Amino acid sequence: MKKILLLSLLLILSAQTINALENTTCKTCHPKIYREYQHSIHANSSIYKDSLHKAIWDRHPDKKKNNYKCAKCHTPSDHDLISGKSKLTDNPIQQTEPISCQACHQIESIEKHAKANKNIFTHKKKYFFSADTKKKGQKVLFKEEKSFFGLLTKTSGSPYHDIDYSNENYYNGESCMGCHAHKQGGNGFTICNLEVKQGNSKETCISCHMPKQPGTFVNLKNTQTHAFHGTSIRNGAPMHLSRSIELNLKTLDKGFTVSIHNKATHALFVHPLRLGQLRVSIERDGKRIALKPISFHRVIGKAGKPTMPWLADTVLRDTTIKADEKRTLQLDTPLHKGDTVVIELGYYIANPKIAAKLGIKDTRLTEFTRLAKKRIVIE
Ligand code: HEC
Ligand code: HEC
Ligand code: HEC
Ligand code: HEC
Ligand code: HEC
Repeated sequence: MKKILLLSLLLILSAQTINALENTTCKTCHPKIYREYQHSIHANSSIYKDSLHKAIWDRHPDKKKNNYKCAKCHTPSDHDLISGKSKLTDNPIQQTEPISCQACHQIESIEKHAKANKNIFTHKKKYFFSADTKKKGQKVLFKEEKSFFGLLTKTSGSPYHDIDYSNENYYNGESCMGCHAHKQGGNGFTICNLEVKQGNSKETCISCHMPKQPGTFVNLKNTQTHAFHGTSIRNGAPMHLSRSIELNLKTLDKGFTVSIHNKATHALFVHPLRLGQLRVSIERDGKRIALKPISFHRVIGKAGKPTMPWLADTVLRDTTIKADEKRTLQLDTPLHKGDTVVIELGYYIANPKIAAKLGIKDTRLTEFTRLAKKRIVIE
């Protein structure tokens, strides 16, 4: 244990002199979380990693001026870019930690604005917020000792940083809302709004998108579990999210109804690039009859036609399923005894029609991903 600690500290010291990347230090003591994070969308949100983000940016009027305003949400850890010291260029931060560990763990509060909310970061160095209901309210301060051996006698806290367990935003999910609540275009039109409604749900952004997984969160002690840090809806729909979608079927005299209950605390597939889809098929006498898919999306545009987000000033169509909504859809196909009805709800990251126009070829973005599925035998 002492050896590991000493080794970690040595690694950190060498890492700090060789490499200025923020996450490199965290990696030494939090390797599991670091590894998961590499696959998360937050580690891949720059134009150099996300081809869809790049495709839209390439067409954005601000690109000609190289004025990458998207940085405050997509690459907040490129500090020189944020402060205006440098322009958008390919660099190791854009490649590996556009939204670094610190970009989330140092959010002190969220300032609410109509255009987009704003993250207010703490100015204290090596000071991180976290959540642990057993330690709620505590601030575990790390005292810098003169020698390694002084550190080794510490029994609690982190030997590298302070931890503040008193910030409510890390318990209720509010810390996600600086970037995720909504965004308006230059003309004041709302391009995207997650339409969060907490209602009576006990779940939060964190409990659903960062559920506890087996495995310790830190090398130095065995905590049994850690919060999942790999959130991304493009590596297949996460199993743990499927359980917040409830699918049901009711037979009628003519045809049947399918209902979708969205138990998430926000609307589904709200981003204007997404396309949600319900697919129903009937297995009968060894054959499969696929019914016409039903789409859910929010189409934005101008003068009755869909447009790029910065040109849009109206919502042309909004069939997205809202928080806690139970959507019932009627299908006319008559069912027979012995039929098996297969109901699937899923999505395309990039609506295939838009993807074709943008020249997007990455199949992870253009293929249907299933979020929830149910098979029902008709009796
Ligand atoms: C030298 C090892 C070390 C390094 C480097 C390190 N941590 Fe930690 N960290 C710890 C230890 C040990 C704990 C557990 C403290 C406890 O449980 O009392 C911890 C706890 C945490 C927690 C709170 C966990 C909880 O209880 O909810 C967060 C958040 C965190 N670290 C983030 C980071 C980030 C971000 C970095 C990189 C900038 C980092 N750590 C670098 C050792 C380290
Ligand atoms: C207020 C914060 C914020 C700003 C500013 C912002 N975005 Fe985003 N963007 C987000 C969030 C959050 C998502 C994820 C939304 C979701 O999945 O529902 C996102 C998703 C996207 C996506 C979909 C990406 C994908 O691969 O799924 C594109 C494209 C995109 N943004 C383009 C841009 C461009 C271009 C700019 C700058 C002109 C920009 N964004 C500015 C927060 C922001
Ligand atoms: C009860 C569980 C639940 C809660 C609580 C929840 N989500 Fe979700 N979230 C989901 C499900 C289910 C999806 C759809 C998964 C998918 O598209 O693969 C989703 C999708 C998303 C997406 C991707 C949407 C898209 O189409 O691009 C974002 C971004 C998101 N959630 C953010 C949040 C934030 C921020 C909060 C807190 C305000 C939150 N979620 C709370 C279950 C939840
Ligand atoms: C998108 C925001 C976000 C990013 C990026 C992020 N974290 Fe976290 N992290 C959180 C939140 C929120 C929690 C609290 C989870 C909870 O309450 O279960 C957390 C919890 C933790 C914990 C405590 C684990 C536990 O089981 O409670 C550690 C340690 C940690 N993060 C380290 C890191 C490290 C290291 C990185 C970078 C590799 C990182 N985080 C990146 C939001 C983030
Ligand atoms: C600093 C801004 C920022 C913060 C804080 C943040 N996110 Fe994100 N998040 C983004 C951006 C930007 C994207 C879209 C990136 C892209 O698609 O290129 C995104 C995408 C997502 C997605 C969609 C995944 C996908 O594959 O498209 C989910 C789910 C998500 N975030 C959950 C969370 C949760 C939960 C929290 C809080 C614990 C959080 N985020 C905090 C900026 C942020």
